[in-house]
Amino acid sequence: MSGRQVETICCLGAGYVGGPTMAMIAAKCPHLQVTVADLNIQRIAAWNSAILPIYEPGLDPVVAGVRGRNLHFTTDIHGAIAAADLIFVSVGTPTKSYGIGTGRAADLRYIEAAARVIAEVSEGHKIIVEKSTIPVRTAGAVRTILEANTTSNATFEVLSNPEFLAEGTAIQDLESPDRILIGGGNTAAGKAAVEALVAVYANWVPRERILTTNLWSSELSKLVANAFLAQRISSINSISALCEKTGADVDEVAHAIGMDSRIGPRFLKSSIGFGGSCFQKDLLNLVYLCESFGLPEVAKYWNQVLRINDWQKSRFVGKIVRAMFNTINGKRIGILGFAFKKDTNDTRESPAIRVCRDLLHERAHLAIYDPQVDPNIIYQELLGDGVAPTILESNMEICSDPYAAANKSHALVALTEWDEFQTLDMGRIYELMLKPAFVFDGRDILPAEDLKGHGFEVFTIGKG
Ligand code: UDX
Ligand code: ADP
Repeated sequence: MSGRQVETICCLGAGYVGGPTMAMIAAKCPHLQVTVADLNIQRIAAWNSAILPIYEPGLDPVVAGVRGRNLHFTTDIHGAIAAADLIFVSVGTPTKSYGIGTGRAADLRYIEAAARVIAEVSEGHKIIVEKSTIPVRTAGAVRTILEANTTSNATFEVLSNPEFLAEGTAIQDLESPDRILIGGGNTAAGKAAVEALVAVYANWVPRERILTTNLWSSELSKLVANAFLAQRISSINSISALCEKTGADVDEVAHAIGMDSRIGPRFLKSSIGFGGSCFQKDLLNLVYLCESFGLPEVAKYWNQVLRINDWQKSRFVGKIVRAMFNTINGKRIGILGFAFKKDTNDTRESPAIRVCRDLLHERAHLAIYDPQVDPNIIYQELLGDGVAPTILESNMEICSDPYAAANKSHALVALTEWDEFQTLDMGRIYELMLKPAFVFDGRDILPAEDLKGHGFEVFTIGKG
């Protein structure tokens, strides 16, 4: 590090956040050397191969342009840390599945392990940047672990720099972010570290979009941003139920309210519920934090966002079973889409998991098609919660195209809004299906009027 200028960057964690974010930094900052280090040998091998471990539109050319030049992927974590001036920590923070806070608190074991290895290996001055979403005040714990475990003269400054990219649009989001948020300490060293990270982003992000705050505001803002976005989806989904009762159309309502500039049009698309690795985890985390800080009313308020999300999924399955004469036992049901949203192969917390499991509990036979998700991942995601391997072997099959999923099915259920579903030959699908041919569109992606013309029985969320 010359003066306060960063020259070498390392990122611990080559996941959906670490990989694309570092690829963009390397592309925009050719003068910096960027190394992404991960414990997972297969993942690193995939980042170094022609087939990247994640599907993200526009990512391949960005990686191809910089890999081997100033972007490197490695399992040599110690070497990468030792060489770096600035270390992003982008390891997973899943919801805890054991002990205190089970099912709610964030599991910080990967963060702590990363901090310990940084302390063990580092010499000189290092800037440590939290990229992972973490509970407010985690930077304090990270700093304590670093300082308590260093065996050299190393000094550390801990910053918070949450990532706001959404999967499927990660490259656009990274290239032209609404804002970059950097939280840091108020000391001279803290301010210098913030400025050093600001200088990295300033290579392509306009200065007025780079926001600096104190550490706790930055950490909390990430949780709150996701909570507000999730809340909008639960709000419109709650209204979708009322639309179905009253004959109002939820898209017309969303459009009408979204034109109010105080409300705005985005994140008002009703669906079978939100999924993804962030919203549920961060809401649970927020609820847990509020309870821990003695704010039960605030905790209850945000917990309701999650309850509506769960209710929306079970409500959808209820509609399917009721419409199909109260039994789907032994009926073949074609499933269109399994990813948690279009343009990603990520299935974490996908609403499709809960919907498919509930359909399997009703003893349906599922024929699942998704253009990007690996069949083994679908199998792994469905396993558990009363779904045994024997059930999956007898009652679930993976199809290589939507027509195969529709063939001899009683119903077609759309669970992800892949663009290709908009242009399906619905006449051909109608011919392939058993009659009455039901369509349950959980994403409002199939051409509803066209469907009715062909003779389908159609149910779309939020349309009376
Ligand atoms: C989210 C945040 O958007 C991002 O800023 C943060 O960094 C990580 O979490 P992501 O989960 O990748 O990103 O995708 P997002 O586009 O937010 O969608 C989340 C879920 O909400 C998806 O299941 C999506 O289908 C659903 N959704 C989104 C709706 O049901 N309706 C909407 O209007 C928008
Ligand atoms: P995200 O969606 O936040 O990027 P992922 O789960 O996709 O999360 O990626 C997190 C990555 O972090 C995983 O590939 C995991 O192997 C890696 N990881 C966990 N702990 C460490 C560590 N101590 N050092 C390096 N990588 C780690």
